[in-house]
Order: sequence, then structure tokens, then C-alpha cells
Amino acid sequence: MGEFITPNHLFFVRDHFVDRPVLSDDEWRLYLTGVGVEDRTVSLAHLRSLPSKSLTVTLECAGNGGYGRGADRQQHHMRSMVGTAVWRGVPVATLFKKEIPPEVTEFVFRGYDGGEDPDEPVSIDCYTRSIPRVKALDDDTLLVYEMNGEPLPQEHGFPVRLMVPGWYGMDSVKWIRSIEARSERVGHFYDDHRYRAQSTDAGLHAGRRVREMAVKSLVLHPSNGQRILLGDIPISGFAWAGENHVTGVDISFDGGQRWQPTELGDEVRPYSWRPWSLTYQADEVGPLDFVVRAVDSEGRSQPMDALPARTYEANWVQRVRVFVVAGLEP
Ligand code: MTE
Repeated sequence: MGEFITPNHLFFVRDHFVDRPVLSDDEWRLYLTGVGVEDRTVSLAHLRSLPSKSLTVTLECAGNGGYGRGADRQQHHMRSMVGTAVWRGVPVATLFKKEIPPEVTEFVFRGYDGGEDPDEPVSIDCYTRSIPRVKALDDDTLLVYEMNGEPLPQEHGFPVRLMVPGWYGMDSVKWIRSIEARSERVGHFYDDHRYRAQSTDAGLHAGRRVREMAVKSLVLHPSNGQRILLGDIPISGFAWAGENHVTGVDISFDGGQRWQPTELGDEVRPYSWRPWSLTYQADEVGPLDFVVRAVDSEGRSQPMDALPARTYEANWVQRVRVFVVAGLEP
């Protein structure tokens, strides 16, 4: 988690259904259909024969940090449901060439998985997400078959998943089964009843669709509650901003009255998190509180206060308390 690239075995996994599809690479087929599209299937061998590209993308679950219970759980959640990997695949646009007529407004991506939703009494045919034309056909929206140089692991969508960089994870459909071009919206559960910006403890979801990732920072070292020796304390983490750049990460030791900039690491643009760090000189024993806030190229920043309800897009600042001590007993 502390590394710039999250190793595959440490990368978070988020599934909606109990059973994961088990697909073989030679049997897997992707169905292309819809307005203006000649129905056809694509095999993995064909996909692999097309020009590919790789992108370093930070993937974050829309529920990261907002669906925990209590401070500790939130901290844990905040750390766990985000990761960065190098994804290799073929742009969705390559498969469709020039055939898509102007009336197509969105693309529907379906997965091979389905079943009972664990949180609500609904039965789902297959995991489904609709993505507007302009993002679906963007050159960076990929059908991915490799993660960090290895075949896509089963839990991450083997053999092929969608990768929608800069948007929350729910759009990056795993175990992809079909792509449908549409000229009008199709309603489905995961677009209409989930992943909406307003949500309540009662599990209701309303408001605009959750899509682009908000600006956010994460403190990795030191961790909340840690005991640290008097003297230089290295503080570090990552910050990301979806489709935007991270332009600054500031830290405050007085609850947000005064801020000082941290040092930013190199940028791997676009879509990837950026390291930040600072060394704090602790010359007093006792609790040390700090809070970190990132700013992006559109001037967006992180809210200071946590929302009380369960929510998506939780990007309020992370507050850390460590204990500075004169000596560490064994
Ligand atoms: N795709 C399918 N087919 N089924 C799913 O349950 N979960 C989504 C998305 N794609 C999901 C899916 C969610 S909510 C997230 S956050 C990401 O996959 C998580 O990707 P990962 O498990 O590879 O980290």
C-alpha cells in the first residue's frame, strides 16, 4: 500500500455478488451490439492482436471512506479501497472504428456476473454500467487484460475488464461480457438506485450519477495512533484528483488555521496518484495532531468536515493523531 504501484495481491477487491465468474481465456467472448453496430463477438486472441497501450491509473471505489462505521473503520476504509496499477489493454474505440452514428449517446457495459444483491432484495441479471459516448470512446478508456505486467487476476476481472480512468471504480466493469451502443438511456439498478451522489443511512440513493473522482489525499506514514520518537518525523502519503492534476498538498498542525505546503513527488500523468512528503520536527512529547488537504488543477480541494450519512465520493480531509514519546520501550 505504501508503494507507488500497488502489488496485485494487495490491491483491493470490490464485488457486488457472492459468486465470481470463472472464465477461460479461450472461451471468453465479448459481444458488440447496438445502434449502428454490426453484431459480432471478439475473442481474447483478437483483442491481444490489436495495438495496445498501458496506463498507470489510480482506481478508487466510490464508497472508499464513506461507508465505514466510526473513526477507525473509516481510516481503514480510506486506506484500503484505493490502489494504483499499470493496466494494459486496447481502447474501446479501436473495436468500433468509424461505425458509430452520431445519434449514439451512451454505451452500456455488462459483466458476466449477477445474482442477489447482498444489500437489497433484488436479483440482478448482470452487473451493468452506462457510460456517456465521449468517455466510452476516449482513447484512454481501455479493455484491459494485463495488470502490473501479469494477466488480469481472476478477482480483478479475468480475462478482460473495462478501465475508465479518472472515474470511480464502479464504472470499470470486470469480467466484461458485452458492449451496447445506445441512442437513449436504459435504466438499470446500479445506475438508478446505486452510485448516486446523495445517499442516506436508510440506503436510499438520489441525485446526480457518481462519476469523476474527487480530489483526495491519503496519509500513509505515520499511521493514526502510532507512537513516535521525539525529533524528525517523516510524514508522507499520496494524493490524486481523477482526471485533473494534483497541484498542491498542504498540511496543518493546528486544526486548519495555518497550512504549509508539503513536497510533491514526480507526476505520472494523467490519472495517477502523486506522492507528497514533509519532515516535521517534534521537540515536545505528547499528542501531535495534523490534517492534510490536496488541491487540484481546477482549484478543487477537500472539505474539512466529514458527512454524517453513508456517502459516496467521501473526500473530506484525513485527521491523524500520533503520540510523540521520549523513548520507545521494547
Ligand atoms: N464489475 C463487475 N462485473 N462486478 C462488480 O461487482 N464492482 C465494481 C467495479 N467493477 C464490479 C465491477 C466496483 S464497485 C469497483 S470499486 C471496482 O470494480 C473494483 O475493482 P477491483 O475489484 O479490481 O479493485
